[in-house]
Amino acid sequence: MNLSGKVIWITGASSGIGEAITYALAKEGCKLIISSRRLEELNRVRKNIKLTDEDILVLPIDLEQHQHTDEWVKVVMGKFNRIDILINNGGISQKGYALETTQAVEQKIMDINYFGNVELSKATARIMQLQKSGKIVTIASIIGRFGLPDLSTYSASKHALYGFYDLFRLELKDDNIKVLIISPGFINTNVAINAIKGDGVLVNKNSPAMEQGMKTDVFAKKFITALKSNRNHKYIGKKEILSVPFKMLFPNIFYNLMYKMSKKNK
Ligand SMILES: NC(=O)c1ccc[n+]([C@@H]2O[C@H](COP(=O)([O-])OP(=O)(O)OC[C@H]3O[C@@H](n4cnc5c(N)ncnc54)[C@H](OP(=O)(O)O)[C@@H]3O)[C@@H](O)[C@H]2O)c1
Repeated sequence: MNLSGKVIWITGASSGIGEAITYALAKEGCKLIISSRRLEELNRVRKNIKLTDEDILVLPIDLEQHQHTDEWVKVVMGKFNRIDILINNGGISQKGYALETTQAVEQKIMDINYFGNVELSKATARIMQLQKSGKIVTIASIIGRFGLPDLSTYSASKHALYGFYDLFRLELKDDNIKVLIISPGFINTNVAINAIKGDGVLVNKNSPAMEQGMKTDVFAKKFITALKSNRNHKYIGKKEILSVPFKMLFPNIFYNLMYKMSKKNK
């Protein structure tokens, strides 16, 4: 697939994976809509891109407020009159045992990572149905394939994305709308710093897994290759992505190892 001239909407474009993907897409000659909550950070990213104002829209959105998705889509359609690709990347992580996590925090994570993601896809898919073409991408996680202590709701939100998009793909096939799930391993971003604790307070501290993770520009290159392909799904990361087949082949050994690792990291 040639990406040049395509209208691509990316959420979570103000930081980390989304920021790196935004730069890579701009180099491919795409027209972009960049979204997240922090306007000043989106404007910083916008300044780093050599696109004319005609070809880029900075659109602040809060995925937690997903009742507004139709309004956001209207703004995008008002500018570009089409959406070729939606990349659902915006999200937050958590750090805290399930029993120490309030229901309000669980709701917030599900609202951003699952409902915000899914509602935006549904509103966009209705436009793509009229166009008779489009691609919807979701950034899930290897933590959507297995759980890790401290990440119960995050893991649940990413598992839920797999369930939804595996079916959505089938429902949209006759409309010529493709669905791609990307599962990152550990990528060197601020995701752990921006995670929230069980009481909703910001973690504000990085984790060794993220610090040693794949660099975002390396991730972005692999992402663009997957986006251009006809794939339904792609894992992107370092050796940690091998934990997925390992769990399937040796589930008991896997759980024992995870348990021991989590005790060591406590
Ligand atoms: N880094 C990893 O190892 C890793 C692994 C697997 C999956 N992922 C996934 O990759 C995606 C991007 O994360 P990242 O690693 O790049 O972390 P990051 O640097 O913290 O970026 C997260 C992005 O999501 C946006 N965001 C957060 N809450 C939002 C909300 N309520 N509404 C709209 N946008 C929101 C943030 O922008 P604002 O603060 O401006 O809203 C930011 O642009 C997430 O879905 C994450 O779960 C990351």
